[in-house]
Amino acid sequence: MTTAIAHANIALVKYWGKADTQTNAPAVGSLSLTLSKLWTRTTVNFRGPQKADRFYLNDRQVAPHERDRLTQFIDEVRRRSGIGRFCEVRSINSFPTAAGLASSASGYAALAMAAMHAAGKPLPPEKLSSLARLGSGSAARSIHGGFAELPAGGGGQASGAIQIADKDFWPLAVLVAITDGNPKKISSRDAMEITQRHSPYYSAWVDSSVQDLEFMRAAVLQRDFDAMGALAEHSALKMHGLIMSTRPGLIYWNPGTVAVMQEVLKLRQGGVGAYFTIDAGPQVKVLCRPHDRSVVAERLLALPEIHDLTICAPGPSAHIVEET
Ligand code: DP6
Repeated sequence: MTTAIAHANIALVKYWGKADTQTNAPAVGSLSLTLSKLWTRTTVNFRGPQKADRFYLNDRQVAPHERDRLTQFIDEVRRRSGIGRFCEVRSINSFPTAAGLASSASGYAALAMAAMHAAGKPLPPEKLSSLARLGSGSAARSIHGGFAELPAGGGGQASGAIQIADKDFWPLAVLVAITDGNPKKISSRDAMEITQRHSPYYSAWVDSSVQDLEFMRAAVLQRDFDAMGALAEHSALKMHGLIMSTRPGLIYWNPGTVAVMQEVLKLRQGGVGAYFTIDAGPQVKVLCRPHDRSVVAERLLALPEIHDLTICAPGPSAHIVEET
């Protein structure tokens, strides 16, 4: 029995669109920051008496469609490790599930690590990352702490993400503003597929992401806060513009999302370095320097639309916390 923890990540340059749906090979490269306070803790046991795989999330059995996706993933673990037994998987999220907070990223990263370990075949981070990608594209990045880059493509070879800087490289604050804690109505997986098929902007998105990735890598390595923040905001808005341009258009935002974005713009006009980014959901993550986090938090908490605020620092790599 093995327990692992993996942290969620926020993409500064977004992954949206696939070159191959079977292996989640991304159509565009992405670059992320792993978050300290959003994590999944997963225990995998292959030694119990169970006669089928069992999956629990926050102490409740998962829904059938999730179970199928998880079983497929565990089949891959069985194939790679040679173990023939069924398993029990118990996961706890430190944050709302499927609300656009990258629960599939921390979820599949923790599962990949705990399952391979429990099956007696621990893998090095690069291999673990490519395995995690099969569960969810963004999970490949959550194997690594700090800043991680997942290159485009990789097809059947399932290349993983690489760490470009660790969690201590650049102290930053990320304020996660919850504007709605309920599960979203359309998963990023489905929305991605619809976008890819129906948005007239899709090819421009793919083309322009090549330069975004290069510039973001340079901004991070140079610790250039304004270049990083401005580009993160651009990538998020470009992705949402793309998502909105499908038919029918998909809108993940709510009034709270827009209120936070506007507050961030006001903060900047007032001289505070803050930038927002948004994944496939209504929550907003605000990036700032550590010494500005209290003033940013105060302003966000004053907005009536904000239900909850979590202040994160760069988070660590996925790791094993218990083994029996
Ligand atoms: C908006 O990784 O959840 O968070 O590969 O289909 O599981 P699948 O998609 P997923 O998509 C993440 C989309 C995003 C952007 C990002 O994290 O890069």
